[in-house]
Amino acid sequence: MKKADSTESITIEKVKALGKEKSEENFDRLLELYNSELAIPIKREVVSSIGRQKNKERIYQFISERAFEKTYMEFIYQMFRTTLYHSKDERFRELSERIMEHYDNEVLRKMKYYYENKRKKPKPPEHLISKPTLLVGDSESTLSRINDGEVQLIFTSPPYYNAREYSDYTSYQVYLDKMKNVLRECSRVLEDGRFIIINVSPVITKRPGREFESVRYPIHFDFHSILQQTGFYFVDEIIWIKPESSVKDRVGGYRQTRKPLSYKPNCITESLMVYRKTAPFLLDENIKQYDFVPSEEEKNEPFDTSNCWYIAPKSNRNHPAVFPEELCRKVLKYYSYAGDVVLDPFAGSGTFGKVAQKMERIPVLCELNEQYVKGLGDEGYDVI
Ligand SMILES: C[S@@+](CC[C@H](N)C(=O)[O-])C[C@H]1O[C@@H](n2cnc3c(N)ncnc32)[C@H](O)[C@@H]1O
Repeated sequence: MKKADSTESITIEKVKALGKEKSEENFDRLLELYNSELAIPIKREVVSSIGRQKNKERIYQFISERAFEKTYMEFIYQMFRTTLYHSKDERFRELSERIMEHYDNEVLRKMKYYYENKRKKPKPPEHLISKPTLLVGDSESTLSRINDGEVQLIFTSPPYYNAREYSDYTSYQVYLDKMKNVLRECSRVLEDGRFIIINVSPVITKRPGREFESVRYPIHFDFHSILQQTGFYFVDEIIWIKPESSVKDRVGGYRQTRKPLSYKPNCITESLMVYRKTAPFLLDENIKQYDFVPSEEEKNEPFDTSNCWYIAPKSNRNHPAVFPEELCRKVLKYYSYAGDVVLDPFAGSGTFGKVAQKMERIPVLCELNEQYVKGLGDEGYDVI
């Protein structure tokens, strides 16, 4: 080893170099660095480099002494990673289990899951659905006509709880239970590792009279738990922002009186909850299934760099809550490839399907109300 650097001049690159060159001298230097004052990212690299050294006895000793001390979880994850990589050795396997038991932590559980399944790959999708398809009826039961893993993207705006004419749930819990049943089916038909995107916003049940309060439901908070319970995990929240002139005015009272507590802002946003179906492999494996090379035009096309999308809402004579086509276009562009089967289990007037076809995807739409989907048969849909 070269002459030891003072800790001030230590960088991540220098630590990595120490880790690569395996020697007792470097091990000593790494331990010395672990015991000194260093920035967290550098020290994290120190822990990782210790794990890459040759002397397994010393690695074991380091981890078993340090993993149960109060320290940064980032360091524990590195130590745990080393125990997984040496888990053919019984002592490391036992140490790994002790760390899991001690912290009972979701990151460690996910690391173990990925490690144990590291050779798993997505099953190549069998595109059994080759034509736009319409399932008329309750999606909780009609989705049973779709095979497991046949769909590559789900985008939907679920029925609102008691906010619009088509809502007929006797309580909020009944509504959530129904949504959960449909999401369970969605999870079954979606290919492992692919995305489901749910468009929701809080709704309000009108007050029955001036002497009562209205009830407002933060639907997306509850959707988070039912999505988790049905096999998805949280990835992103995209905020759809509408022009203020297009939404109901709620701030009028405050405008007149300026009395604190009477303030009710105009709601110009809706959430797009982006979740991924649990899979024992990284998203890279899903991407690798496609030979996608962007065209010159695609390379130069502007795209959304933030999670705020500014889109005007759309109104439609035949349906009270249609998607703007622009919203569907963005979702399809960022979360699916040409040729993919894309599903909307609450399709309404079928906006998603219409845009999907234009973008060379194969839509599957489910809709309960025959009135809304009348005419889709003429647009090339197989009605099953
Ligand atoms: C918010 S709207 C969707 C509007 C749609 N995004 C569009 O662009 O027209 C929800 C739709 O779900 C339908 N729906 C409600 N419950 C359903 C169920 N169990 N199965 C299938 N469709 C259902 C309603 O009839 C309604 O048209």
